Amino acid sequence: MRIRLLVGVCGGIAAYKALETARLAVRAGHAVRVIQTRNSLRFVGKASFAAITGAPVLSSEFEADPARGAYPGDDVPAHAPISHLALVQHADAYLIAPASADTIAKLAVGLADNLLTSAALAATCPVIVAPAMNEAMYLNAATQANLVTLRQRGLIVLAPGEGELASHGEHGVGRLPEPAALLAAVEAAAGAQRAQAASGERSSERRAGGTLAGRRVLVTAGGTREPIDSVRYIGNRSSGRMGLALAAAAGARGAVVTCVLANVALEPPPVARVRRVQTAAELAAACREEFPAHDLLLMAAAVADFRPVGAATGKLTKTGPEAPRRIELEATEDVLEALSSLRAPGQVLVGFAAEHGAGGLERARAKLRRKQLDAIVVNDVAREDIGFDSEYNEATLITRAGGDVPLPRLAKRELAELILDRVSQLPAAAELSADSLPAGAGVGAGG
Ligand code: CTP
Repeated sequence: MRIRLLVGVCGGIAAYKALETARLAVRAGHAVRVIQTRNSLRFVGKASFAAITGAPVLSSEFEADPARGAYPGDDVPAHAPISHLALVQHADAYLIAPASADTIAKLAVGLADNLLTSAALAATCPVIVAPAMNEAMYLNAATQANLVTLRQRGLIVLAPGEGELASHGEHGVGRLPEPAALLAAVEAAAGAQRAQAASGERSSERRAGGTLAGRRVLVTAGGTREPIDSVRYIGNRSSGRMGLALAAAAGARGAVVTCVLANVALEPPPVARVRRVQTAAELAAACREEFPAHDLLLMAAAVADFRPVGAATGKLTKTGPEAPRRIELEATEDVLEALSSLRAPGQVLVGFAAEHGAGGLERARAKLRRKQLDAIVVNDVAREDIGFDSEYNEATLITRAGGDVPLPRLAKRELAELILDRVSQLPAAAELSADSLPAGAGVGAGG
């Protein structure tokens, strides 16, 4: 799919990554135009973007566009456009990267004091904002409140990375995501918009339920491994395929997706963030850190319920005195149940249960109640033709509000779409009656 991509570049050291993003987008066959703020010109010159995109770069609303609002590959109109906003009007997606604290603040109050902010105000396409700045500026309450405002208005705000920042010697949160991740977010948002427009003509129901634009989705996938010694472990057969399919589908619907992957060998889709873990305890710690910043949890990982007590640090031998005849086990934490007890109003939690044989639906329903979930997806692992190691799955979605939805045998990526159709419409616990909320998950002091 060819996208007309408008890139807005703010002043910041990370502006060089916008250059690389533009290059990747052009290489992927997209048509790219660039708007720069005055300050960004101090970091990367127009000539670099112009050379990469093959199109003139604009930095002022009072400057005539030599390409008259056209994108590379499109016909240049015979007459200059009346409006300096032609570029954004023709765009399929508008990526603002790096988005500085100053520009984010302007966007939050609706200022239109330069071409970049004017274009944002006039945009009808998805707007993807990729903040990049010093950690203290990013974490400042003013910036955080501005980002919440942007998300509430439907802009897609990407989570910045953590680690070494572009400024020499600086470390922390505030790093611009890598160019490939920026491009993936743009393609996902533009794709979701097109799918929505196309399905709107076919089915209004899908349009109502389909989008996850601007929502933050946390997906766990794979299976945990609990060490017995330095080379052996107790694991399970989960490949992570279903979780990855859910992550890809959520991204394509415009969500900002974080994946926590337990021993997944398959290549993850390009999402905002990927964290890798091995044990149930590591998965629990990663989920605890990530969960508060997300709106929807899709807990597809197969988590060990028990782990060996005191794993040996070396490799056990079969003849040695320490050769185990029995492995003593201790219970792990139920991660999903723990997260459920921490949930804030508005957060939606979905569990996944692999059940063996008859009575599976009843057992899953009991888990939904015990873990205080909004929904649980249950499949029958007794069947050979679906589930573990298979490209296919068949399941039933049970919601807290009542009602079982049978999901037919489908490729896992198609099943993921059906699951998201349903869960994207689930009322969060906060919207249900107060007495159905889990203990400790009230709406907080003062309502
Ligand atoms: N789960 C979890 N932490 C655990 C075990 C399970 O978060 N220690 C989550 C799984 O990720 C899944 C849901 O709980 O989303 C249901 O998992 P399942 O293994 O079916 O449930 P259990 O509570 O472990 O019940 P049992 O193994 O007895 O069937």
